[in-house]
Amino acid sequence: MKAHIAVLPGDGIGPEVTAEAVRALRALEKRHGHTFTLTELPFGGAAIDLTGNPLPEPTLETCLRADAVLLGAIGGPKWSAPEAKVRPEQGLLGLRRALGVYANLRPVKVHPALLGASSLKSEVLQGVDLIFVRELTGGIYFGEKRREADSATDVCTYTVAEIERIVRCAARLAQQRRRKLVSIDKSNVLETSRLWRQVTSRVMREEFPDVSLEHMLVDAAAMHLIRRPRDFDVLVTENMFGDILTDEASMLAGSLGLLPSASLGEGTRGLYEPIHGSAPDIAGRGIANPYGTLLSAALLLRHSLGLTAEADALEAAVSAAISAGALTPDVAGAAAAGAVSTREAAEAVLARL
Ligand code: IPM
Ligand code: MN
Repeated sequence: MKAHIAVLPGDGIGPEVTAEAVRALRALEKRHGHTFTLTELPFGGAAIDLTGNPLPEPTLETCLRADAVLLGAIGGPKWSAPEAKVRPEQGLLGLRRALGVYANLRPVKVHPALLGASSLKSEVLQGVDLIFVRELTGGIYFGEKRREADSATDVCTYTVAEIERIVRCAARLAQQRRRKLVSIDKSNVLETSRLWRQVTSRVMREEFPDVSLEHMLVDAAAMHLIRRPRDFDVLVTENMFGDILTDEASMLAGSLGLLPSASLGEGTRGLYEPIHGSAPDIAGRGIANPYGTLLSAALLLRHSLGLTAEADALEAAVSAAISAGALTPDVAGAAAAGAVSTREAAEAVLARL
């Protein structure tokens, strides 16, 4: 098949990890006889340095015309002074909004070979297989922001339609899995959460009677996630709770560097990025974990290009590389002395494709 993929390496370790995902895509393209057009574009802090804009018009236009967008990471100390008028994160939020990718899927699966990499006990982690569906284009991230001399304001708004569509997305996913949905909110305090809970209850009752629904307050969810993570199947929540809880959940897998994500809207076009940030502290050292980005490329193949066999092959190759002990320092743990580089980890995957 022919496909056009926009590639946005971004900042920090972004270029290092996307380069490896691009190599994997090229290898699959060759092996399976596809034609992938990959267009690399400036984005985030790198684009601010070049053009003054974190999401330059040509980058946005190309993303809108592409079948899928593969993104590394953005941000860094250079652009994050509280006084800064232009920030890399504005580019990311603008891109998510412009692409209409309101559903952010963040799967968390514990690899048996990495049970020791987590700071949690392995008997708690064994068999964990859950997926977060984070609302991505609404809530406090996108509400009005105001700064006065002695105060600051961030508005959080959700509409019924925004809640309905994300709940439907999560419920459909649950139907293909263990039919268990947990909806996370703070309805004892927030009005948006009370609306969230009411809409979720109604949609599930009327449209998904075959999926069990449990409501959970976000503080309790943060606790249950590390107390009994195996009990979760699909979790749906609003933008900011999802941001925070998925960083927490990454510790179930062993490292923030392992988790991929797919951001989807109404069509098949999607935005794919590891959930980690630009990690400026390790940028340029060749030790970043490429697996979160490689697994994001697998999600891209599956969800935007419909290439199931290729996606399965890439995921299996990552899993086999992990089993074989190709681990970057973030997951190498006690074996840190034997840790591999970003390139070596990706090579171990390519060798198994
Ligand atoms: C993420 C990131 C972003 C977010 C930042 C970089 C704006 O933390 O994708 O989880 O908060 O959504
Ligand atoms: Mn985050």
